[in-house]
Amino acid sequence: PVPNPVSPLGPDYKFEKCFLPVKCKKFLEQIENFKVLKDDVWGVSFAKTGSTWSQEMIWLMNNDLDYVTAREKQLFARFPFVELDIYDENNTRNTLELMSRLPSPRHLKTHLPAGLLPKDIWTVKPKIIYTARGVKDTAISYYHHFVYFKDYKGSMQDFLETFLENKILLSPYHGHFKDFWSLRHEENVLFLTYEEMKSDLMAVLRKTSKFLGKSYTHEELLKLAEHLSFDTMKTNPSVNFTMTYKKPGNENCDANSFDAKNKFSFIRKGIIGSHKEEMTPELIEKFDNWTREYNLKNGTSIEP
Ligand code: A3P
Repeated sequence: PVPNPVSPLGPDYKFEKCFLPVKCKKFLEQIENFKVLKDDVWGVSFAKTGSTWSQEMIWLMNNDLDYVTAREKQLFARFPFVELDIYDENNTRNTLELMSRLPSPRHLKTHLPAGLLPKDIWTVKPKIIYTARGVKDTAISYYHHFVYFKDYKGSMQDFLETFLENKILLSPYHGHFKDFWSLRHEENVLFLTYEEMKSDLMAVLRKTSKFLGKSYTHEELLKLAEHLSFDTMKTNPSVNFTMTYKKPGNENCDANSFDAKNKFSFIRKGIIGSHKEEMTPELIEKFDNWTREYNLKNGTSIEP
């Protein structure tokens, strides 16, 4: 755990550490010292928890529902990924430098846990919107992500066992969740869940607009909900990553298919409980016990 003397949780609160490649160390130092601005909006989440979905919502809400720009400009350019360079072997992008030159208000995406965010974040206090999702659906979605984007060749069982051992990129899931859950009452933090977005998107839109200090009519929110619907996002090339991932060997990539071999879709199934179709009852029980044990040990109440 990483102590952070300036965190609102106090000097004794130990942030979770994070499973990342060793080569990231130097880069993480740069992130630690990255200059945060008061009017930044940080979209924070563990991987595969609906980050893209909430980013598109946040960006549109904070940009007076500018659908024209949202359609023209890729989400990753409007809402850059802070630690992208970690995943770039050649380190040619220099994302942090690019971000420091973005006009305000900046919208910044990160999967890093609280303890690895820029230290400025706790004193400057920009708006932070955290998106969480049930762990089993997250893990299954992560498995498919690894198969499609990272050429993972192992079995699903092995992947999920590694997830349970907290040895997957960005692990541990529970600690990531717990740190932001602890911060949820901070004035500059909004804690959302994938499940609430699925069950009542309009309520989430109202809550988020209030948090961002925006006011939209019911009709405007209905239109935004339609733009954010699974079917619309799946066929929207600004958010479905088909442009980004059309690389050699991936020619078959097609936003409308997710299960055919050699084809992928970032916006894949978009349901609550998709793990039930793929996890064995034994694995489900293992995951549930794992979360229960974590809760017992840490006094948390994360849904298994
Ligand atoms: P599944 O793989 O379970 O379908 P992230 O953006 O954090 O990587 O999360 C990706 C997950 O969010 C995927 O989950 C994807 O399908 C889902 N998702 C993206 N847009 C969505 C939408 N508009 N409605 C519901 N789910 C969505």
